[in-house]
Amino acid sequence: MISNIDHIAIAVRDLDNALERFKALTGAADEQIRIEEVPSEKVRVAFIQVGSSKIELLEPLGTNSPIAKFLEKRGEGLHHIALETQDIETEIARTAKEDLLPLSEPSLGAGKKKIVFFNPKDTGRVLVEFVQKIKD
Ligand code: CO
Repeated sequence: MISNIDHIAIAVRDLDNALERFKALTGAADEQIRIEEVPSEKVRVAFIQVGSSKIELLEPLGTNSPIAKFLEKRGEGLHHIALETQDIETEIARTAKEDLLPLSEPSLGAGKKKIVFFNPKDTGRVLVEFVQKIKD
């Protein structure tokens, strides 16, 4: 089951600058904000907790980052929407029956979560992510 919009991600050129603006916009306190580097995805991210969802700001780490390529092609803006599930494998099996296949096997993303992405061609040209928290 999809239980929540986990986060909405925005690609930005300058994370610190964007974070200041989104802090001003949301009124988020410092304890609602988490900044993290994800070398496997070549990004630096900031998560701003907004109710039960988050806004994720994505800054490229280096010119060969997928986010650098996105910014080059499309400029700053909406990058993906992440839907939360408690069981990513079951959800992938469910969507496969609807001819919606993820772009790869689940991998470990920011915040030590299992993630997969779907082809934006299938989803209104918006990249969609499934995310599952890993219990520790
Ligand atoms: Co994400």
